[in-house]
Amino acid sequence: MLAMSETPTAPARPRILSGMQPTSDSLHIGNFIGALNNWVPLQDEFDAYYFVADLHALTVPTDPEVIRRRSRITAAQFIAAGIDPERSAVFCQSHVQEHPELMWILACQTAFGEMGRMTQFKDKTAKGQNANVGLFIYPILMAADILMYDAAYVPVGEDQRQHLEITRDLAVRVNQRFGENTLVVPEPYILKESAKIQDLQDPSMKMSKTNSTPKGLLELMDEPGKLTKKIKSAVTDTDGEIRYDPENKPGVSNLLVIHSALSGTKIADLERRFVGEGYGALKGEVADVVTSTFTPFRERMNELLADPAELDRTLAKGADRAREIAVVTMDRVRNAVGLLPVTGL
Ligand code: TYM
Repeated sequence: MLAMSETPTAPARPRILSGMQPTSDSLHIGNFIGALNNWVPLQDEFDAYYFVADLHALTVPTDPEVIRRRSRITAAQFIAAGIDPERSAVFCQSHVQEHPELMWILACQTAFGEMGRMTQFKDKTAKGQNANVGLFIYPILMAADILMYDAAYVPVGEDQRQHLEITRDLAVRVNQRFGENTLVVPEPYILKESAKIQDLQDPSMKMSKTNSTPKGLLELMDEPGKLTKKIKSAVTDTDGEIRYDPENKPGVSNLLVIHSALSGTKIADLERRFVGEGYGALKGEVADVVTSTFTPFRERMNELLADPAELDRTLAKGADRAREIAVVTMDRVRNAVGLLPVTGL
């Protein structure tokens, strides 16, 4: 793997990058706990790039107005959660046109069978999602997003692990074919306990925008009463003990993970505190922690959305910063693979 100091765009601090698709009017608590909440403290340590993956969202046929609205909402949610656009670049993927160009070059290094083995593609098509070619090559665009910025780490939830593995494979392959210093091989940054938030109604499955029912999904923009109701009706089990045991007690374990991630209390401490208590007590506290986290979040988010022009300016500035790096990476990659430079005008 390349040391950061050897790369042409080596920043003073190691770089991190992550993105979210604008596929809903509200992020859910899985997106928040598995990713966004971890992005915030990483800004102190890293040169951070956070983007709205609007090109990825086109893989699902959606009304153009809806994608535009959700792109602003997603960016506003990053900022409401504590991403500071003065320190971190916050931008839209489609504003940096180098992403699809790098994707093409990487696509020409990817075997057809590698894409066919991607579990998210297999799951989505098995559930009847119409399989356009964009959905099939989705992981290559994601690899381009990451490799464009020489990212050292990529903070995501567990469901993105396979995509990060193919990204690493592609970086290694490009370096072997075209020279060791062409791309930086990134590391995943997946926090063990918070990496997978489960559906509240079916805790054997991950909470997801597409697969969860409304009752199984906690959306950050839900009103406090609605959040509380959903938490109180979360599926648990019948043995009555409050213990972290994801295999045998997925529902209770999921509630403990949500509490711990938002309150900062260790799961072991929660287990000790709830000895002898019933599930009602746990659910009541989880509801308090969730509503007190998301009430100020929702207010901030509504303020940001009330001024879309300012939000668009923030995104444009973020894209400028992102492009500064993308241009350098693409010069290096184009040259490495044998594309002629534009000269002599
Ligand atoms: P997306 O939009 O599906 O999800 C955004 C982030 O939320 C995490 N996540 C979860 N974490 C824990 N529990 C859950 N139930 C849960 N559901 C979602 C995801 O792991 C992710 O971190 N392909 C990406 C977007 C993307 C990207 C990238 C990410 C495009 N290019 C480059 C990183 C780097 C996606 O669909 O995320």
